[in-house]
Amino acid sequence: MLNNTEIKDMNQAIILDTPKSYSKIEAKSKEIGFTMPSDIYIGTLLKTLIASKPKSNILELGTGIGLSLSWMIDGLDKNSTLTTVDNDPALTKIATDFFGLDSRVKIVCQDGTEWIKNYQGAPFDLVFADAWPGKYSEISEILDLIKIGGFYVIDDMSAQPNWPEGHEDKAKRLIKYLESREDFSLTKMDWSTGVIIMTKRKI
Ligand SMILES: C[S@@+](CC[C@H](N)C(=O)[O-])C[C@H]1O[C@@H](n2cnc3c(N)ncnc32)[C@H](O)[C@@H]1O
Repeated sequence: MLNNTEIKDMNQAIILDTPKSYSKIEAKSKEIGFTMPSDIYIGTLLKTLIASKPKSNILELGTGIGLSLSWMIDGLDKNSTLTTVDNDPALTKIATDFFGLDSRVKIVCQDGTEWIKNYQGAPFDLVFADAWPGKYSEISEILDLIKIGGFYVIDDMSAQPNWPEGHEDKAKRLIKYLESREDFSLTKMDWSTGVIIMTKRKI
């Protein structure tokens, strides 16, 4: 039998390793009225997954205000690199103000579709696809860029009150497509905003 203390310890809202700049980024998000920040739970998960990959090559599509980025950076070891892409210069400027001095981090202001189509570098150990490109478009292209053993992570997959009409069908189609990929193992988590984690098993 679990006692009350053990049950309390499983309270997922108790998070002890929040990134140093997290509250400043949250304040910035409120200041500029950014409406799409990633939640704290996906942040903790991304940090934990990235920490499993020493000397890794990591990609985030959709830098946004940089909340998920702050967690992802905390998961990197000193030999890892992370590229984050957003097409909004005001947002990449904010991310650069917070993280531009970290030599492991490359912040790119470019359309994600264009970036994916032109990418010629090494495959990735983890991709967090949090923009339209790499999620609802260029999906096979981005899955091709993941190493065997590498992760593909998306959130916002459970129906959200702010979804525009028709988006639920798009999400369902995406899930169906991802489930059809026999080269990946897939886990759906009805947690946070609805998370899918996939691991590449073969080319
Ligand atoms: C859900 S938000 C990302 C939130 C971010 N992970 C965070 O924690 O703040 C999606 C982001 O994708 C960016 N975006 C939208 N369309 C894009 C495109 N075609 N190429 C690159 N970025 C895009 C938006 O500017 C927005 O910042």
